[in-house]
Amino acid sequence: MSIEIEILTGGAAPPAVAQLFDLVWPDDVLRQLPWGHIVFADADLRVLVESDEQLVCHVGIFRRDVTWNGRKLRAGGIGGVATHPDFRGRGLASVALNAAVQTLKDERATDFALLFCDPHNEAFYASRGWKRFMGEVWAEQPGGRVRFDAMLPMVFHLKRAPHEGEIDLCGLPW
Ligand SMILES: CC(C)(COP(=O)(O)OP(=O)(O)OC[C@H]1O[C@@H](n2cnc3c(N)ncnc32)[C@H](O)[C@@H]1OP(=O)(O)O)[C@@H](O)C(=O)NCCC(=O)NCCS
Repeated sequence: MSIEIEILTGGAAPPAVAQLFDLVWPDDVLRQLPWGHIVFADADLRVLVESDEQLVCHVGIFRRDVTWNGRKLRAGGIGGVATHPDFRGRGLASVALNAAVQTLKDERATDFALLFCDPHNEAFYASRGWKRFMGEVWAEQPGGRVRFDAMLPMVFHLKRAPHEGEIDLCGLPW
């Protein structure tokens, strides 16, 4: 299988990405998830993996000045990690994730990468160098500031990585 990887400017999900998300998280599945009702930020960049011009894997990249115990840090967010069900287990998410982390590393200003996942995916990220953040995460939602605990926070060390304490995302989660 030959694949192409590109990194595009983000914003609202383009139709191919929305279609992939609908396939991976159909409405009836989404409604059952603890984060199904959460309002998420739009990605700043998107890693797209295509095979025969079909989108088969997506990773969103988010840049955000957050606070950790009141101190400003630059987080590089990773979100919307999804591989088309027919293309799983071929290393596509790993390739896209590596490209996303490398992009954040290249930007140099990013202190650490941060993602949120369902408990069953913790092992997938742990085996790729991500560590659990054991503290509290706060985020904005349309109704105001809320504790964001519907998913597990995981961090990846770039220049540093907090492991406990309080992170305020200072905006919508991803
Ligand atoms: C999780 C997901 C993105 C992985 O995509 P993928 O392209 O199949 O991933 P890769 O092929 O790069 O990696 C697959 C490897 O991870 C392992 N893996 C996949 N899901 C795993 C999980 N939940 N826990 C532990 N290992 C997992 C596979 O066994 C495989 O291992 P191997 O490399 O030793 O063979 C894909 O299953 C998916 O889209 N799931 C639904 C959406 C989702 O949960 N996204 C994550 C949101 S945080």
